[in-house]
Amino acid sequence: MSEGFPIEPANRLKRLPPYMFGELNRLKLEKRQQGIDVIDFGMGNPDQPSVQVAVDKLQEVINDPKTHRYSASKGIPQLLKAVSDRYKRQYDVHLEPSKEVIATIGSKEGISHLSLALLGPGDSAIIPSPSFPIHVWSVVLAGSNVITVPMSNKMDHFLQDLAHIVENLWPKPKVMFLNFPHNPTTTVTTLEFFEEIVQFAKKNEIIVIHDFAYADITFGDYKAPSFLQAKGAKDVGVEFTSMSKSFNMAGWRCGFCAGNEKIINYLATIKGYYDYGIFTPIQVASIMALRSNDEEMANVALQYEMRRDILVDGLGKCGWHFDRPQATMFVWAPIPEKFRSMGSFDFSKLLLEKAEVLVSPGVGFGETGENFVRMSLVENPDRIRQAARQIGKTLNLL
Ligand SMILES: Cc1ncc(COP(=O)(O)O)c(C=O)c1O
Repeated sequence: MSEGFPIEPANRLKRLPPYMFGELNRLKLEKRQQGIDVIDFGMGNPDQPSVQVAVDKLQEVINDPKTHRYSASKGIPQLLKAVSDRYKRQYDVHLEPSKEVIATIGSKEGISHLSLALLGPGDSAIIPSPSFPIHVWSVVLAGSNVITVPMSNKMDHFLQDLAHIVENLWPKPKVMFLNFPHNPTTTVTTLEFFEEIVQFAKKNEIIVIHDFAYADITFGDYKAPSFLQAKGAKDVGVEFTSMSKSFNMAGWRCGFCAGNEKIINYLATIKGYYDYGIFTPIQVASIMALRSNDEEMANVALQYEMRRDILVDGLGKCGWHFDRPQATMFVWAPIPEKFRSMGSFDFSKLLLEKAEVLVSPGVGFGETGENFVRMSLVENPDRIRQAARQIGKTLNLL
């Protein structure tokens, strides 16, 4: 065999840390290969079927060969209009479809490319911690610096921390990421908070990127506000929404960015170089889903609300108590006192090995997540009950 030469990745890849969830996923697969039925609360990957109108429309449209060609990178005009109509209907926000909305290949792709379009070496971005990993890694991959601000469910604390960090930094951060309802902590917010953020962003000239992936997964009387409802929001930022969670369409890869015309244009420019848009039948099917009525949407959220109650009550019966989240498809649970010193990674490993339940260690979302684990509500009610029993047995045994 001939000797090769060292094949190295670019430095930007070397800046990425090892994948935190890799070892736990490997252990899960090992167990499944041994025939052990691991209950998987790991990834936030919806298990329910996509909304039926989208499935039906996709099957119809795919028969038309015209839809098999490259699509429009920005999204087809009717889809952009459907997004704009939905913003009007749900939030009374006016968006100019051709200028203030763009389709993305899932919001993860959009966020990644927007970081690349806005940030470069020497720039920095503020990111609440813990966070959905791509917020951090998109900034790192763009060659920029990450400045973390501790996530807090007390919004005035969060604003004070933010003000303190920005006052003491030079050069000033260029971008700020927000995500409410928040993954992983499930923290929710108010429109008043967003109004303060707009004032803060204007004063400090910081661009706001709001990730609104869990817009529709809210429980009880709580309704999540859109960042774009805040007065002047379009002057300072954009908001990402997604078909993945609201419509159980995670595998379809369709999301949106809406708001400030200039920022949308920067994203359109970079995407124009990188991609040819989402497969047209998926875009057409997404239009049907976006037009679906609020009852269908409420049903998606209701499933998660029921599962949340089963998990929180089930673990509560075993002596593991914590607050019920008001939104998202997750439970963010503080590790019981007795096990806290193990750290979230070893605690998750313990649950996988002894209880045969996979959870995500909080540290995988940033160091501030260390005392927590995240559980995704992506198993059916019976399996959630079973998981709570198995976890209870494990924790009480030791
Ligand atoms: C906060 C947040 N943003 C974005 C995404 C990615 O969504 P999409 O499927 O639209 O890329 C997720 C997925 O889990 C998420 O939790």
